Amino acid sequence: MKIKLCVLFGGRSVEHEVSIITAIQAINKIDKAKYEIIPVYIDKSGKWYTGGMLLDIEIYRDLDLLKRYAKEVVLYNRDGKFVLQNKKGLFKSIVTEVDLAFPIMHGTNGEDGTLQGYLETVGIPYCESNVYASALGQDKILQKQVLKENGVNVVKYKWFFDTEYLNEPDKIISSIDKSLDYPLIVKPATLGSSVGIAVAHDELELREYIMDASQYDYKILVEEVVNNLRELNISVLGNSERQELSVIEEVGSKHELLTYEDKYIGGKKGKLGGISSKGMASAKRLIPADISEDIEKKVKDQALKTFRALNSSGVVRIDFLYDEKNNEVYVNEINNIPGSLSFYLWEKTGKEYPELLDDIINLGIINYKNKSKKTTTFKSNILEGFNGLKGVKGLKK
Ligand SMILES: Nc1ncnc2c1ncn2[C@@H]1O[C@H](COP(=O)(O)OP(=O)(O)O)[C@@H](O)[C@H]1O
Ligand SMILES: [Mg+2]
Repeated sequence: MKIKLCVLFGGRSVEHEVSIITAIQAINKIDKAKYEIIPVYIDKSGKWYTGGMLLDIEIYRDLDLLKRYAKEVVLYNRDGKFVLQNKKGLFKSIVTEVDLAFPIMHGTNGEDGTLQGYLETVGIPYCESNVYASALGQDKILQKQVLKENGVNVVKYKWFFDTEYLNEPDKIISSIDKSLDYPLIVKPATLGSSVGIAVAHDELELREYIMDASQYDYKILVEEVVNNLRELNISVLGNSERQELSVIEEVGSKHELLTYEDKYIGGKKGKLGGISSKGMASAKRLIPADISEDIEKKVKDQALKTFRALNSSGVVRIDFLYDEKNNEVYVNEINNIPGSLSFYLWEKTGKEYPELLDDIINLGIINYKNKSKKTTTFKSNILEGFNGLKGVKGLKK
């Protein structure tokens, strides 16, 4: 009997298109002798569709056609079985049962814990990181706080709410000035793809970019820029019990910030324009990276600490900022569902893509089994003894 694997992709995210590409690539490589693939495409408004035509990348050029022929479905738990049911039609028939969900979605509403929360609520086993790890992966501020607490090297930073800044800008600027050194990089806490990120060289720019970032998020992060920058990424595969490390890649040129500055939108204001962090859009990559043994050791050690601290699962990519002159590495961020699932790093590590996918799926099943062993419901007699609103403090009869 084949496992019915529901691959979820698309989603309400700026990385919608990247997700489609990652998912179709992955579906093509999943072992069809073991798994029956049920593709589910989530459109930009959040509707779920299934059907064989979703496997053809061309269909996404004509979404009207897709919506005409694909079935709009909902996923739910029907008497202990997980089913995709037609949302339309007289009888709202069951399209198929599914055993396991595999979200291949990037960014908001897919990689950030929200979809994972839905899957938890339905009760279906799923691959990749759980709700908490996914949420920590999306919020750059929470992530830094947890990493720092767990002995991971992160750049110096400050954070605040947009309303705090609007009420007392001078107070916030002066506290930043006191504890951080320019240039500073301003980021909205929970976006990706460099949206709303800019480098400030002085106080004037800092004030401007904070206002810009607050268009995108109500939590703002300001951190020190790493000088003499090289960017190194590594992939980790595993769960809380065991982990494997990929080879390390170097992305971009040696002076990435300069390269990015070249790409400012319209040459304007030091914005980092349109560069995806997901590892697909980046022009240059060197695998394995040309780095010393010492730096390789540091990256691997910090990657394992990061994976553990965030309690990630499945395959992730952890991005580092490397200050070449000072021989120091900092964890910049984790991608819990990385672009292309980082298969290109695993191929260079000696693991072919079908095997990587098999590992990710198995980890999803193992995590579900481990979790099922823990007690999640408690017998309680509170409700048995409850007789209406009488006797509830503060409520007058
Ligand atoms: N502290 C920093 N110092 C230097 N460059 C940085 C720093 N933070 C981010 N960058 C640059 O900006 C890019 C995007 O920032 P990142 O935090 O990864 O946001 P995103 O989630 O949009 O990928 C990074 O890949 C790196 O090139
Ligand atoms: Mg990034």
